[in-house]
Amino acid sequence: MLLAAEISKERRRDALHESLEDAKPVRLNGAFCVWLMGLSASGKTTLARLLAEALEQRGLRVEILDGDIVRNTLTKGLGFTREDRETNLRRIALLAQNLVERQVVTIVAAICPYHSIRKEVRATIGDFVEVHLNCPIEICIQRDPKGLYRKALAGEIQHFTGIGDAFETPERPDIEVQTHIENPEECLARILQGLEALQRLPEDSPAPLEQEGEAPGPRRLSCKAAR
Ligand code: ADX
Repeated sequence: MLLAAEISKERRRDALHESLEDAKPVRLNGAFCVWLMGLSASGKTTLARLLAEALEQRGLRVEILDGDIVRNTLTKGLGFTREDRETNLRRIALLAQNLVERQVVTIVAAICPYHSIRKEVRATIGDFVEVHLNCPIEICIQRDPKGLYRKALAGEIQHFTGIGDAFETPERPDIEVQTHIENPEECLARILQGLEALQRLPEDSPAPLEQEGEAPGPRRLSCKAAR
């Protein structure tokens, strides 16, 4: 009898534990990483800048790790084979994890083309919001702001994402925006709404009061300064 009561108590405890684990985490006031992923020319850098401004206006400390800038600094010398991309993305994830731990909201703007490495960077960073900038490759080819698609199509660049190398479509992104349908401001609004729905941002959050002795304004690190 006693044993049966103990077992049912144990079951109730397990059920409570499971329901707590399933519950949406409340992370207001904590830092997190927003990873903007998508094809080259899908709008990652533009949206990263707009998002950084919007988050700074809400009083958050923000850092951008932009693929092009990181590849000229932290991961200089790496190419675009699968192995090099994975090394690039692992280093970005380590830096992002460190920044998040120090309460800096970190926006990564990098293609991040494979399912397996997305899973890995999510695990490294912990508090990770995956945003897919979904834009058809035909539109990216038309935009081609750096002329790289033209070169890739002419065979002058190897392993170019979407041409000579895969971009595995994110299966379950936390947020998705269609940058060929909505303009950057609309995409930004959608991302902010998504962050609110995911409880990473309070709705309509005012900037917190500055603490005495603390320098005002967002923290800036080298990669962002190079923007
Ligand atoms: S990732 O695959 O490792 O995530 P990342 O975002 O850092 O890529 O870098 C992509 C940027 O590098 C592109 O925006 C583009 O400017 C440049 N680039 C140069 N060669 C390639 C290539 N073969 N594939 C994709 N991007 C390339």
